[in-house]
Amino acid sequence: MSKIASHEVWTRARLATMAGDAPYGLIDDGALAVLGDEIVWAGPRTLLPSAFSTGAKVRDVGGRCITPGFVDCHTHVVYAGDRAGEFALRLAGVDYAEIARAGGGILSTVRATRAATEAELAAAADVRVAAMCRDGTTTLEVKSGYGLDCATEERMLRVARALSQRHRLRVRTTYLGLHALDPAWAGAEAYVDYVCAEVLPRIAAEGLADAVDAFCESIAFSPEQTARFFAAARALGLPVKLHACQLSANGGGALAARFGALSADHLEHAGADDLDAMAAAGTVAVLLPGAFYYLRERTLPPVAGLRERGVPVALATDCNPGTSPLLSPLLAMNLACTLFGLTPDEALRGFTAHAARALGLADTIGTLVPGLKADFTVWDAEHPAQLVAGIGVNPGASVVVAGRTAEED
Ligand code: NIG
Ligand code: FE
Repeated sequence: MSKIASHEVWTRARLATMAGDAPYGLIDDGALAVLGDEIVWAGPRTLLPSAFSTGAKVRDVGGRCITPGFVDCHTHVVYAGDRAGEFALRLAGVDYAEIARAGGGILSTVRATRAATEAELAAAADVRVAAMCRDGTTTLEVKSGYGLDCATEERMLRVARALSQRHRLRVRTTYLGLHALDPAWAGAEAYVDYVCAEVLPRIAAEGLADAVDAFCESIAFSPEQTARFFAAARALGLPVKLHACQLSANGGGALAARFGALSADHLEHAGADDLDAMAAAGTVAVLLPGAFYYLRERTLPPVAGLRERGVPVALATDCNPGTSPLLSPLLAMNLACTLFGLTPDEALRGFTAHAARALGLADTIGTLVPGLKADFTVWDAEHPAQLVAGIGVNPGASVVVAGRTAEED
């Protein structure tokens, strides 16, 4: 092997590669070699080939733990307005569906988002995204869905795309075309026609979205309407994701799988048929403990059934103003363990390897293996379990994105 001059070696690290079957893919005394924006070697320090150690810039992390950068694969982080009043209403006993039917909920954020300029939306999102980055998020999925009309949906997606210019992270955007019904429309069918015929083709042509999403629920869109939207998206080459079985058992998981969905998300009310179909289609289950906690739900997602079938389980913050105003991947992982019974290893895979897969990016990010992007975090912690054990505790993080530290950017 010829000598590589410009690489860097992060050494004396407890490497949580999140690859393979061993817990955390852990390498106790590890080294990670990076060339440019890519990982070129990862393994036990004593086995580091001399081609990587000769002439390398060495960064001794003194036994600290390194994990892949966190991938937050389901967020609604771009929005305007505030729903604190709704939180108070829910505490007083009014439920989410009732608030939605009365024109609050998603529609109240739609009104605020439509009224906001692109700069205002960006400034509001910046505050949230900065906090996410501090807690280790290096890839962020952002959904639209608070515009409902074409111009506002496009504005949200442009704001989302531009986040990567001001923050140290990768961004994937999702056109959430069916989120709520604007009461100005005569009915849901007419609105789905508009979305499929006008908005979706435009957003696809502009390259503003990497995937589409829908809210398939009694208070939102039916399975038939969702299927119509998904067929149109697939015909344009866009992959699909689905808010499925959050509040009721409606076959959303199976519907998502039928369209080869990257992921089906929420899933508290998913049944055996949903899980079988997801396993067969390779659809990732994205669990959202923030929404479960905030809505004080009682029905747990079917974690045992997902494990039995080998369905990869990802986690995300679902950051949104109404049901999960949560920014921290660290806190989300802790909630997933305490509320859903995930192990810390499962929780970390959920925010790294499996989340990358939920975005179709498993060959790019999510594990510390050669050939993937050098997105990782050096934690002031000795063991990855410590990241999950605290309640919103960040032990200190040096975040590397595309091989670059904050100082180098
Ligand atoms: O993922 N379920 C639908 N969408 C969001 C909620 C959005 C809102 O209430 O503003 C969710 O929970
Ligand atoms: Fe959501």
